[in-house]
Amino acid sequence: MKVTVNRIAHFNAAHRLYNADWTDARNANVFGKCANPHYHGHNYELIVSVKGEIHPETGFVMDMKILKSLIETEIEEQFDHKNLNEEVREFKTLNPTAENIAVVIWNKLRPKIDKKLALSITLYETSRNFVTYSGE
Ligand code: NI
Repeated sequence: MKVTVNRIAHFNAAHRLYNADWTDARNANVFGKCANPHYHGHNYELIVSVKGEIHPETGFVMDMKILKSLIETEIEEQFDHKNLNEEVREFKTLNPTAENIAVVIWNKLRPKIDKKLALSITLYETSRNFVTYSGE
């Protein structure tokens, strides 16, 4: 029997979608307003989902206090109120699309969570656009 526990977190961050190998015209064509050289912001909503067996002694899949503090230190403190392109090492050469941000978040959290538990990331860039990544 496996149960998924979920924790919601938020961060505000600025980004610019841009491929340095392309012309400005091609960037504008593909990324539209998101290629704006002056950046723009999003209120990202993050859902971290952890799936596994219920531990018989605690009744927990994972202690949510630990998950909460992991998300705070590994994600919120690194991303909140940051310019992702300029200030977050992972995006120096990686386009900070919602897809890539979700993968980076998964990669940061995966080593910190028990290997017996499955990890899945859901990231809302807007209320209507969201991506999921489970390490596949
Ligand atoms: Ni954007």
